[in-house]
Amino acid sequence: MALVEVQNLRKSFRTFKRSEGILGSFKDLFSRQYSTLNAVDGISFKVEEGELLGYLGPNGAGKSTSIKMLTGILKPTDGEITVMGYHPFRDRRAYTAHIGVVFGQRTQLWWDIAVLESLKLLAKIYRVSDSEFKSRLELLTETLGLKDLLHTPVRKLSLGQRIRCDLAGSLIYGPKILFLDEPTIGLDAVGKDAVRAFLRKINRDLKATIIMTTHDLKEIEELCQRILIIDKGRIIYDGSLERVRTLPGLKRRIYLDFAGSAPESKLNEIFGTRVAFERESERRLAGSYDPRELSTPELVKEVFANFDVADFTVSEPELEEVIMKIYREGAGAL
Ligand SMILES: Nc1ncnc2c1ncn2[C@@H]1O[C@H](COP(=O)(O)OP(=O)(O)OP(=O)(O)O)[C@@H](O)[C@H]1O
Ligand SMILES: [Mg+2]
Repeated sequence: MALVEVQNLRKSFRTFKRSEGILGSFKDLFSRQYSTLNAVDGISFKVEEGELLGYLGPNGAGKSTSIKMLTGILKPTDGEITVMGYHPFRDRRAYTAHIGVVFGQRTQLWWDIAVLESLKLLAKIYRVSDSEFKSRLELLTETLGLKDLLHTPVRKLSLGQRIRCDLAGSLIYGPKILFLDEPTIGLDAVGKDAVRAFLRKINRDLKATIIMTTHDLKEIEELCQRILIIDKGRIIYDGSLERVRTLPGLKRRIYLDFAGSAPESKLNEIFGTRVAFERESERRLAGSYDPRELSTPELVKEVFANFDVADFTVSEPELEEVIMKIYREGAGAL
């Protein structure tokens, strides 16, 4: 059985439409017009032990709502979730000891007490033995750079410091699975790098399963082999990062270095609209092309047959370009 199994999961919110103006607000007091929003609209997926899954989607897609249901904070409207055999909402008392949860937007730690005391409290709640606590604290202090923060109350920490402490809090009791909702939001480049390295380490060394949402594509590229894209409450992509790059309609780029001056006009003559060339330097050109219209081998063959080429490289589409296309066009892009 997979570690996480989600079947036809749904969450709808009942919202009421506000009428405009003062008169409208007054009318709303007496008769409210309700409508239903399907924030999560029938999603299914499985996650195996040890996976590091990127849960992506544009703003309002339903990511946080899904994470809240997966962690037992929100009750699903419909559908089934099992995580390690638990039903998150129904079994939430027993369940929370087995999962780590971090919401980048708000802390799970106690605001007014020192970080170390928060960690000790969590260890107590989850019945962690002293020796286990000590060794985990050591590991977390070391890898998250917490040494100077442990005696500070959470309210005095900067955002980046606070998130590192939150990660420690979510792991101090040794959960098997981590749910992270935008764990690096608002961190500077160094902070992001530290958290990324940390997640990679616990995924690799401690075999922790991680499900995370993020808007940072560099993070995805460095961490996740598999991504799930949700749009308007529905999953529109579930698969590898490599496969998403082969989406139709995405341009490749070829960089050509010539022995002499780059023959731009001659190339334009040969390839016409099939390749858009740009000059990078005296001897170097970049060309972008649609691999469905002109295959890379065909392009390279034709260039080599006609010119004296010193070197060439072909680059895949940037992940950012891919994801933007999917966010813009939704399921239609796939
Ligand atoms: N408690 C709530 N009551 C009513 N509507 C809600 C509630 N929580 C979320 N929503 C709505 O559900 C939809 C999904 O919200 P959700 O927070 O899951 O999006 P998200 O994918 O996490 O977006 P973001 O990238 O902005 O964090 C949104 O349209 C949001 O307005
Ligand atoms: Mg969110």
